[in-house]
Amino acid sequence: MTAPSIPAMPALPYSGLRLSKEHLLVALPVAVVAAAGGFLVSHYLKGRGCKKSQVNTCISKDSPKVVHSFDMEDIGTKAVYCRCWKSKKFPYCDGAHAKHNEETGDNVGPLIIKKRDA
Ligand code: FES
Repeated sequence: MTAPSIPAMPALPYSGLRLSKEHLLVALPVAVVAAAGGFLVSHYLKGRGCKKSQVNTCISKDSPKVVHSFDMEDIGTKAVYCRCWKSKKFPYCDGAHAKHNEETGDNVGPLIIKKRDA
């Protein structure tokens, strides 16, 4: 008795992807280096993006640090200082924080210093 003949399987289309051990030994380190490089580049670019979120966008930008100093005796009974960096009268508050809060959903406001009985 003879076994029934099995029809020949049609040839699968050639996928073009045949990796030998040697290919993998080269491709794996290249992939690891590329992934590490991509991570470092994205990390670097993310760090550079922080400058876009600076608080101070226009006041004394030529100075490395914006500092104001007042003597307590000169303040009088009440002083209102800007903390949003949007005031045209910086360092004093001119109410610009209200527009900033409305546009951004932020909740910043001034620092108010006053004498206790004022
Ligand atoms: S304008 Fe900046 S806190 Fe008022």
